[in-house]
Amino acid sequence: MAFENLLIEQKGRIQYIIINRESKLNALNKATLAELHTAITDAFNDASTGGLIITGAGQKAFVAGADISEFVALDADAGRDLAREGHSKVFDVIENGTKPVIAAVNGFALGGGLELAMACHIRIASTNAKMGLPEVTLGLIPGYGGTQRLTRLVGKGKALEMIMTADMITADDAYQFGLVNHVVSQDELLAKAEELLNKMLLRAPLALASAIKAVNAASTPGVNGFEVEIEEFGKCFGTEDIKEGVAAFMEKRKPEFKGK
Ligand code: COA
Repeated sequence: MAFENLLIEQKGRIQYIIINRESKLNALNKATLAELHTAITDAFNDASTGGLIITGAGQKAFVAGADISEFVALDADAGRDLAREGHSKVFDVIENGTKPVIAAVNGFALGGGLELAMACHIRIASTNAKMGLPEVTLGLIPGYGGTQRLTRLVGKGKALEMIMTADMITADDAYQFGLVNHVVSQDELLAKAEELLNKMLLRAPLALASAIKAVNAASTPGVNGFEVEIEEFGKCFGTEDIKEGVAAFMEKRKPEFKGK
């Protein structure tokens, strides 16, 4: 499917989703969010895709935030609806996805851009990346999960400092805070993302889905993550993949998982 604001590229079992509004630093307008919803759900349902890399077009920005020009006409109800729809159609869909999603943060990741990266399972930043949640400079707070996901990733003190000062941090700071998994040069960014994702794609796909679900449960209020782990562990024993994985170990060969 062709999109107006996204580029989709398939490389083996990896699907790239590239936010492609370079002249607006890839800001997320409503149309881009709607396309992201479609692209991500399609990729999760597509058997030939094992995992996703989300990045921004150009050398300057991953995503410089929600599109501020669309805020002009909003009142309180419309603002609430915008946030709720973003959560349910894009950010939660990525976080709760059944396939690994890596954010390759190639420049500014601000506001909704950092929130998008934080909804992904892994973040890799290029050395020139700048990250922050500057919404309070506009009279707002983060509305696409930023107050929750940043707090979970870096802790309450750092999250409040970043949100209330609106300061941007460097990729190295983000690494120190645990906000990104790796920092590499811009030239190496996609190769590093592919290296990590290709390693995951050698593993049992249904076990990856179970791992995402169980780890997410650790930070879902009201959910007993230990119970989720027990259930998912049990479910794995009902798969063909565990038979293949155990047989391959016993026969001293590499497993060939089918995701069944
Ligand atoms: N929404 C809408 N448009 C945006 C945008 C956003 N979040 N971020 C950047 N743009 C647009 C700019 O308006 C400009 O468009 P124009 O050329 O038509 O005027 C274009 O992208 C380039 O941005 P510019 O500000 O000229 O680049 P810069 O290098 O001087 O500054 C930033 C880069 C990221 C520091 C700056 O663009 C910025 O502060 N953006 C907003 C960040 C933000 O507050 N995000 C959270 C939103 S909730």
